[in-house]
Amino acid sequence: MLNLHDALKHTDIDPSLKEVLDTIAATCKSIGGKLKGGALSSVYGSESSENIQGEVQKKLDVVANALLKHALLNNRHVAGVASEEEEDVIGGSDEGRYLVTFDPLDGSSNIDINVSVGTIFSILPTKTPGSQVTMQDFLQPGHQQVAAGYVLYGPAITLVLTTGNGVDMYALDYDGDYYQTHKQIQVPKATQEFAINMSNQRFWEAPMQDYIADVLQGEEGPIGKRFNMRWIASMVAEIHRILTRGGIFMYPWDSREADKPGKLRLMYEGNPMSFLVEQAGGACSTSQGSIMDIQPEQIHQRVPVIMGSKEEVERIEVYHQQSGD
Ligand code: AHG
Ligand code: MN
Ligand code: MN
Repeated sequence: MLNLHDALKHTDIDPSLKEVLDTIAATCKSIGGKLKGGALSSVYGSESSENIQGEVQKKLDVVANALLKHALLNNRHVAGVASEEEEDVIGGSDEGRYLVTFDPLDGSSNIDINVSVGTIFSILPTKTPGSQVTMQDFLQPGHQQVAAGYVLYGPAITLVLTTGNGVDMYALDYDGDYYQTHKQIQVPKATQEFAINMSNQRFWEAPMQDYIADVLQGEEGPIGKRFNMRWIASMVAEIHRILTRGGIFMYPWDSREADKPGKLRLMYEGNPMSFLVEQAGGACSTSQGSIMDIQPEQIHQRVPVIMGSKEEVERIEVYHQQSGD
């Protein structure tokens, strides 16, 4: 079976990008090792600190962030990194050609209860090689990404990767290597499975309220089919399900905090997941247009996210167009 290293060797991507991907894959193996030990690894529980989002940091958020930051900043091809757990961007090698943004541990609320969590990453080209990076260098729309992916720490540790030529999946074997299990995965166009945090319903805009109300009416409603619902509270696990068997994932705009359009972050959640889903034939939207067309203004900016099976994403956009919202 093809391992990650050999699979990348057979592509025509830049060798220095391969080295960056190798570094991420190896570091995620270490993070997975810590998760495997559970309470024995002393990674459960919370720190007394909060991150830039005002969220309490879990111990493993801090550990995973430190591991990725250290490994990437020691890779000479990395010009800088930005993380959910770091207020500012951090400069790396002057000769680096790539910028890496990451969510070191996605689904932190699931760590202590032993439910799937993950690491999400996005790789952008450096616009100003040879000089120290600034936040401005990172503020590129998602369609500029040269690679994106995630590692899901579930019953199996799974790496899912795109370099702009489809989406492939790898599983981490007992021998410590990632082996390709699926090539060119495709998200089914239609679905009967949706994922949204229903407890936020009263905060959504009217078209989202209308869409979910129609979904809940099943075969008797205007959509005319019965839906099933899932909510894992780890975006990585939800997107993995969608890449595997289709579905629709939504964390839409809500009115809880006026200055925050949604919960998820554009640069290390919205964009990399959009790149993967679109490369697998699915669709992604803010409800008003493509997530990857947004010109970022801040590294930690938030974005409404609707992604998955094309037919359903397009249906939600129509609900918004018809209401004018
Ligand atoms: P993170 O743990 O990196 O802050 O991200 C959690 C995100 C995402 O993974 C998940 O879909 C969502 O937050 C869960 O939100 P709720 O708490 O509303 O369920
Ligand atoms: Mn996250
Ligand atoms: Mn996180």
